[in-house]
Amino acid sequence: MNVAVVGGQWGDEGKGKIIDVLAERADYIVRYQGGNNAGHTVETGGEKFVLHLIPTGILRPDRKCVIGNGVVVDPVAFSSEVKMLLSRGVDPAGRLFVSDRAHLLLPFHRRLDGLGECLRGEGRRIGTTRRGIGPAYADKASRSGLRLCAILRRDFPRRVEERCREAGRVLEALGGEAVDVEKTVAEVTAAAQVVRPFITDTVALLHGAVRRRQRILFEGAQGTLLDLDFGTYPFVTSSNASACGVAAGAGIPPSQVGRVLGVIKGYATRVGEGPFPTELNDDTGALLRENGHEYGATTGRPRRCGWFDAVAARYAVMVNGIELWAVTKLDVLDRLDPIRICVGYEYRGRRLDGFPADSGVLAGVKPIYEELPGWRVPTRGAGSFDDLPSQAREYLSRICRLTGVPLGMLSLGPEREDTVVLTDPFAEDGA
Ligand code: IMP
Repeated sequence: MNVAVVGGQWGDEGKGKIIDVLAERADYIVRYQGGNNAGHTVETGGEKFVLHLIPTGILRPDRKCVIGNGVVVDPVAFSSEVKMLLSRGVDPAGRLFVSDRAHLLLPFHRRLDGLGECLRGEGRRIGTTRRGIGPAYADKASRSGLRLCAILRRDFPRRVEERCREAGRVLEALGGEAVDVEKTVAEVTAAAQVVRPFITDTVALLHGAVRRRQRILFEGAQGTLLDLDFGTYPFVTSSNASACGVAAGAGIPPSQVGRVLGVIKGYATRVGEGPFPTELNDDTGALLRENGHEYGATTGRPRRCGWFDAVAARYAVMVNGIELWAVTKLDVLDRLDPIRICVGYEYRGRRLDGFPADSGVLAGVKPIYEELPGWRVPTRGAGSFDDLPSQAREYLSRICRLTGVPLGMLSLGPEREDTVVLTDPFAEDGA
């Protein structure tokens, strides 16, 4: 059985920690989309690691990690992440594999991303991480991208130079600064040498793992509501962050994706622009932000905070085929009473069925709330579901009933040990 771990909200659900715990039970941990816009945080033995591009599984000795063909790889970011790991005693050599089909994210993509945001102007800005993700995927779709297999060719520097010149013309036409071609080629080719030993035919590698019935854990980045097709377009990222992206982004047949575990926080957050029906622009929102340390792991931006949205979560269940929930950061709600859950949307006086495609409609919905009593005692470090106060158990049960998905895992603090596994998602019968 393979397992895909996906974000059920707008990213930052605490996937890094859940993946880290499950990685102990997996043979391979595979990133299938996104790039270094992600920020997966793992705390272990008093140490904190933030990984952006390399799968979180690398922190578990002997686990094999794959950056799949669906990821966009910034070689400069990749090489600094490898150096960071080495400096902290984690050696990825021999167990980190990067797809030869993955696309390169080059320095001018970052600049195009920043310039694009400026040109969009107030009200139309996406609030991207400015890591170059959108422009790199745009090059892939328009068939002008460079893939990692190009690094293995002798003419790689010339190809980078060509792309730099083309991108430079676009940047200048848009009013941006010229590209320093020589400097960029030198920077990229130096970083590419760090990437080179990791470049692998990961499609064949993962097919071998499937054949041997080894366990693969797919590590989603961002979340369903940021998915390019199913998220709150255009306020989304440029890849399929949902489980729908796994087969295409990892290069495995759709029949091998396995069980889908959705990660949700006990409340909701969003970074960047776009509609957020349950957003709280008040003291409660500020309290969630402070208690939950809701500041971006990649950009440091304060996250927008709000109540749990069961309408959006139901939609995530449908899109991904989520079979189990992992609920994180329940302890952040410890001091709130009452606690609200959004159970429906009202738009222009009518109750909506489902989650609207149009972000303009979503921005205009009025959430319909249900109130539940808070528990007002600390839950951090509770050893099991049964150790939780009855109100907290009721809150979790309500989320599960509203979404039709059982609770599989529960995270009640930042350390590995603060995670309760109620159902092992790798178990063949789900028990
Ligand atoms: P991009 O992925 O940098 O193009 O940003 C597009 C949108 O996705 C913006 O709203 C970002 O804030 C958001 N985003 C991208 N990566 C993450 C993430 O890892 N967590 C949360 N939001 C993200």
